[in-house]
Amino acid sequence: MKKRNQVVSRSGRFENGPGEDVAAFTESVSFDWRLWRQDITGSMAHAAMLNKIGILTSAELQAIHSGLEKIGSEISNGQFEWKRELEDVHMNIEATLTQRVPAGAKLHTARSRNDQVALDLRMWVRDEIVHLIGEMKDLQRSLVELGQNHSEIIIPGYTHLQRAQPVFLAHHLLAYVEMLDRDLSRFQDAFIRTNVCPLGSGAIAGSTLTLDRQFVAEQLGFVDDQGRAQLTQNSMDAVSDRDFVIEFCAAAALLAVHLSRLSEDIILWASSEFQFIKIDDAYTTGSSLMPQKKNPDVAELTRGKSGRVIGNLMALLTLLKGLPMTYNRDLQEDKERLFDTADTVRACVRLMAAMLRHTRPVEKNCQHASSDPALLATDLADYLVQRGLPFRNAHHAVGAVVALAEKQNKTLKQLTVSEYQSVEKLFGNDVLDLFDLKKAMAQRNITGAPGPREVKKQLARWSKRLKS
Ligand code: ARG
Repeated sequence: MKKRNQVVSRSGRFENGPGEDVAAFTESVSFDWRLWRQDITGSMAHAAMLNKIGILTSAELQAIHSGLEKIGSEISNGQFEWKRELEDVHMNIEATLTQRVPAGAKLHTARSRNDQVALDLRMWVRDEIVHLIGEMKDLQRSLVELGQNHSEIIIPGYTHLQRAQPVFLAHHLLAYVEMLDRDLSRFQDAFIRTNVCPLGSGAIAGSTLTLDRQFVAEQLGFVDDQGRAQLTQNSMDAVSDRDFVIEFCAAAALLAVHLSRLSEDIILWASSEFQFIKIDDAYTTGSSLMPQKKNPDVAELTRGKSGRVIGNLMALLTLLKGLPMTYNRDLQEDKERLFDTADTVRACVRLMAAMLRHTRPVEKNCQHASSDPALLATDLADYLVQRGLPFRNAHHAVGAVVALAEKQNKTLKQLTVSEYQSVEKLFGNDVLDLFDLKKAMAQRNITGAPGPREVKKQLARWSKRLKS
């Protein structure tokens, strides 16, 4: 057999490199190159620690640091040559460093790719959470702005997709701000468990060398809010744990579900049947066949992409479920699912915020729909309750009023006072005043309700919280 490229990890025991098809099957550098920043930062901290415990001289440390810096700038300039035969990002960087800097051969002391990849991945997820949270706050801001810019607009709220009760558009939008806030806190919580340093776990069983794990953790920002170093406490768990990837993908899946629901509302509202909103042309597309069409593709794709984000979570759970301790190569499959999830939700969040900033309500259609008197049937029942009727009876009486109106082909507002009284004597002469929508809205002012005072308060609370 032809002698193939020898690579760092195969030295010694292996006479030949893997076959072409095996190399193509097992390589990960085509996707894990994205970990290069974290890999270099992690290696620098590891080298600094090796110097601190006397394994690297200061000159060697210097050489390693500047070698890694150079590799970093070559990668970011697109000049670095990734080699598939070097398998992954870790070996590509280390092999190049060792070629240029002899002390590079000492860098892997007391380190395995198993704890190295766990480290890189934790740092990557940490960075991603910070960026994603920034984008999610911007999406919340765009929802609040849309509500504030049209704070007078009332629309029907729906249950079962049937008109239920009137709400301010802002109230509906703020519902999503609340959902996103729960998503945000899930990511913040996931960050805490991600932010634990696994380096020093070696391949499975730590090291006989007295590494300073605390030093590495501090160098890499693996500290709690009191500045205390956070270290994994079991080397076997540390090299095989991908819970933080799953937690990230689970929080992302729920975020994607929320974005999908928002998309669905937007698609409905933009439809010819509703026409509550107009989306700017830039965020819609035409049809290749039907000239009149303006399709809400950004919203539809956001709804659709939730499928792959949910799928990625399932793939990861399935990947982990059968693995014995500790590291198994199966774990390499975590990265594409993670990257795809992160890229997808980031793009959806960003595009959704931009689209909302290019969307405006069509006031006359919202007004027309929300002036449907049937939306205030519950107010009629509350009116009777205030006059002493038990709610169940009040509900029944209003049901009879609705039936009467239907029979006479009238709206609730068009019935006369005496027709109301023919159903229930407790209806007074003022009953028709209930259909003043403005007044009706002003009655809804308990915490969480869609009354004007409460909605203004919520808008103000959110815009203050989302400043900066
Ligand atoms: N590319 C590998 C991964 O992503 C790195 C760890 C490989 N470790 C090993 N012992 N083969 O999981």
